Amino acid sequence: MPPPRPAEGDPGASLDLVFSSAPATLPAPLRRRYRRHEWRRVRTGASGAGVWRLSGRTSLYVKLADRDELTAEADRCAWLGRAGIGAPEVVDLDDDGERAWLVTTEVPGRPLSGEWPAHHRAPIVAALARFTRHLHDLPVADCPFDRRLSITLPLARQRVEAGLVDAADFDAERRGRTAGELLPLLEEGAPEGEDAVICHGDLTLDNVLVDPVTLDWSGVVDVGRLGVADRHQDLALACRELAADAAGRFGPPFVRAFLEHYGSHLVDPDRLDYYRLLDEFF
Ligand SMILES: Nc1ncnc2c1ncn2[C@@H]1O[C@H](COP(=O)(O)OP(=O)(O)O)[C@@H](O)[C@H]1O
Ligand SMILES: [Mg+2]
Repeated sequence: MPPPRPAEGDPGASLDLVFSSAPATLPAPLRRRYRRHEWRRVRTGASGAGVWRLSGRTSLYVKLADRDELTAEADRCAWLGRAGIGAPEVVDLDDDGERAWLVTTEVPGRPLSGEWPAHHRAPIVAALARFTRHLHDLPVADCPFDRRLSITLPLARQRVEAGLVDAADFDAERRGRTAGELLPLLEEGAPEGEDAVICHGDLTLDNVLVDPVTLDWSGVVDVGRLGVADRHQDLALACRELAADAAGRFGPPFVRAFLEHYGSHLVDPDRLDYYRLLDEFF
């Protein structure tokens, strides 16, 4: 394998390493299948999954993660496609007995977290709000995936008991607390009823893509947690990200603009806090 070289500016994800062929550490069947592509490692989000962009005749993305998680993601990609929402198309979901991978087509556009001129910030945040509202306005009955609290609270408990919750990643206000300390707040603090809509489930600035010409949303990725849930699950994450994005491009005025575009009358600040707490467990 030739030594990796730094990636040049890319319209899509943040890419850190480029290889002219698949790295030898990846599963052999996967490398064989895509041996004609150039492989670039993508700096991934919080999940820690291995993500690669393959360029060749068509551009593809490869994600290596737990097989069940990838199956959930593939099912949701297919569902979003049927719902007319830009999402990766599944090309390949397979494993070598040890490691599983999902190969998808590239969703056009650029993540909100990418490089944008300052005067594009307001329009792309408006696009994020339009996307969120569009997804949330789809009929709940059409969605076969359930992420309501009856599913996510027991999952949160299982994750605490299995030691899977990363306390080092807690929001500043909860830094120093343990997952075990926070669990009763989550279990006993659930709001009355759920304002159920179809949620993306991981609505971060990395996961929503915008067309750099029209400045409208073009699609979403990382959809493994899509399902019916309280709208504040998505709103809480989007607001958290806009309030303190890694590059310091947004901030509180953009949070207010996002919620106004979405529909402030639908937003309950207490629920935003609760669903932000819930996200600490995932
Ligand atoms: N099919 C795809 N089309 C376009 N971009 C993608 C695709 N899959 C992944 N990406 C890019 O790679 C990044 C990481 O992939 P993602 O599935 O979000 O992994 P993680 O679970 O680590 O956050 C995304 O934020 C996006 O920029
Ligand atoms: Mg992601």
